[in-house]
Amino acid sequence: MDVESSPKKIHAAVREARRRGLTIGCVPTMGALHAGHVSLVQRARSENDFVVATIFVNPTQFGPTEDFSRYPRTLDADLEFCRAAGADLVFTPQVADMYAADAQTIVRVTGLSTVLEGAHRPGHFDGVTTVVTKLFQITEPDRAYFGQKDYQQQLIIRRMVQDLNLPVTIVTCPIVREADGLAMSSRNRYLSSEERGVAKEIFQALQLAEQLAGSGSDSPQEIADRMRVHLEGTGVLTVQYAVVADPETLVTQQTRVSGGAGVALIAAKLGSTRLIDNQLLNY
Ligand code: PAJ
Repeated sequence: MDVESSPKKIHAAVREARRRGLTIGCVPTMGALHAGHVSLVQRARSENDFVVATIFVNPTQFGPTEDFSRYPRTLDADLEFCRAAGADLVFTPQVADMYAADAQTIVRVTGLSTVLEGAHRPGHFDGVTTVVTKLFQITEPDRAYFGQKDYQQQLIIRRMVQDLNLPVTIVTCPIVREADGLAMSSRNRYLSSEERGVAKEIFQALQLAEQLAGSGSDSPQEIADRMRVHLEGTGVLTVQYAVVADPETLVTQQTRVSGGAGVALIAAKLGSTRLIDNQLLNY
């Protein structure tokens, strides 16, 4: 496994792989890797000849009051995870390798990036779509792997790929969870042991939503209300949103729609830690 911080060298390495007729899979990450990230690299390994993982804590997707400077950086352990999961190449740029000081270009997906996460984190998705476009340019993948954990993110990236005719197939991978159901996240390590005990209630609320959807009597709005009541019942989780939305447009569903497909999405704060999770529903 090669590790390289220069975009030019990464580009040359993937070009060389492509010249040899290999297909290329890319897994973009911000490091602090866990089993969720590993599942993406393994999936990429099983579907491509050459696998590039990228590790870059992207400053442009963090708001001014967010956790960019304290975001966990665990490069040695990350490289071990990448090696064990079968990556061929790991791209580990510094900020200056990715952004010129006078850069003036952003990639923005308009509508989808303004709701839910976008409403609570202004500018966040502009940072994501800009860096992912750059990572795609540098690694020229046939396939790129994203987690359903960040449901809105993968939807926005799919939209961007379609709108800009980018020659890459987006693969969305299932959410990997801890034993108690908490979705794995690099930010879980911020939780105190007391907070960690409560964090599973987010998954419990999503399970409640799935159960109510299955029973067929509640409207999407009623399901969303029940999730909120469950979360607020903990007394410590601060709900930013708990909604049932259209899985493609993310427009909030109030009443039942024909086809009965929705996605339950939650963002909640536990102390200073912000957690998100989601669950596809059929009601
Ligand atoms: P990061 O939070 O490091 O996540 C990298 C990828 O891992 C994302 O596609 C995310 O959805 C996926 N992932 C995270 N937790 C997961 C879990 N529990 N199960 C399955 N997949 C999981 O998302 C980003 O980085 C950045 O925004 C990035 C796309 C790299 C752009 O900077």
